[in-house]
Amino acid sequence: MASASLERVAFGSTGLIVPPIAVGCAPLGDMRETFLYSVPEDQAIATVLAALSSPIDYIDTAGWYGDGESERRIGLALKELGGLPQGAILQTKVGRSPDLFDFSGEIVKRRFERSMALLGVDHFDTVFLHGPETTPFDAAMAPGGPVDVLRGYYEQGVFDHFGVASDKSDVDMEYLKTGLFDAVISSNRYTLLNTNSDELFTYAAERGIAVLNAAPYGSGILSRGPRNYPRYFYRAAPPAIVERALAIEAICERHGVPLAAAALQFSLRDSRITVTIAGMSKPERIQETMGFASLEIPDELWEKIEALGPPDTSDPGAT
Ligand SMILES: NC(=O)c1ccc[n+]([C@@H]2O[C@H](COP(=O)([O-])OP(=O)(O)OC[C@H]3O[C@@H](n4cnc5c(N)ncnc54)[C@H](OP(=O)(O)O)[C@@H]3O)[C@@H](O)[C@H]2O)c1
Repeated sequence: MASASLERVAFGSTGLIVPPIAVGCAPLGDMRETFLYSVPEDQAIATVLAALSSPIDYIDTAGWYGDGESERRIGLALKELGGLPQGAILQTKVGRSPDLFDFSGEIVKRRFERSMALLGVDHFDTVFLHGPETTPFDAAMAPGGPVDVLRGYYEQGVFDHFGVASDKSDVDMEYLKTGLFDAVISSNRYTLLNTNSDELFTYAAERGIAVLNAAPYGSGILSRGPRNYPRYFYRAAPPAIVERALAIEAICERHGVPLAAAALQFSLRDSRITVTIAGMSKPERIQETMGFASLEIPDELWEKIEALGPPDTSDPGAT
């Protein structure tokens, strides 16, 4: 029987100390096509305010989420508070423009300046290069390219740590091998249903690179439930994924454990993972999430899940 700890943890070898759970703010971008529901502005602001007054005062966002809408709403919450509260953690991600498919250094500069304006801040704990799988590695690394531009801000002290967050484990790995990155985010690739990022996480953890595991609920199937929301990685889930989610849900029900608690703790109990980024868009989710983390889960539940056989390891984006 064990629960997960909410004690702050070392962010890789950076010296930064952070909560083990970050509040994922993609749903706050009101992305109906991605999540199939809308999130009103006042609810989004209330969610950020609830997060920032809780032990999981760690906000993860990106310019990509609703093309600035998530950052704009977080900015409104920060304005209400008079800025980021002392000790709270804020990170964003910068990448290509959604409309132009432009991943030049110039567009990254413009988008990063927009992120700062929308959030109303001039400093971040960590900034991530977002979605570099959409541009050739050599172009991203070239002088004046997106990595060079973001390194420029880093060197000026605009952010303290530099990370990479692509949608492909092998692409993340290629960037980590440059030695330029302190942190990596992988999403939907280390859950009860898919462990595509296993090798990446071992590689990063062994080198003191902070490992951020995003979307522990596979974008919702493991939190909203496979009957209500049979979607994985923002699209209809393949039948084998739904079947496994239903089997895990049945095991959880027999032990009186919410499926979401098992999904969250699957990530929290992995010693390689520094931070688990769980997405949410309602203020009550903060307490629910901390409740999921603190719940005692019997060893037998994990043994029964293990007996189902290993999860899929293929790239969920490839299907
Ligand atoms: N490349 C990258 O860097 C990358 C990629 C993807 C995601 N991310 C980050 O990781 C975060 C997490 O990913 P995600 O949001 O896509 O997926 P997720 O965390 O796997 O799942 C989010 C979904 O779970 C629901 N949920 C959360 N807590 C719940 C609860 N207590 N009860 C019922 N439902 C609950 C949310 O619903 P509600 O909206 O109703 O709360 C939302 O629909 C993102 O928000 C983003 O910040 C990063």
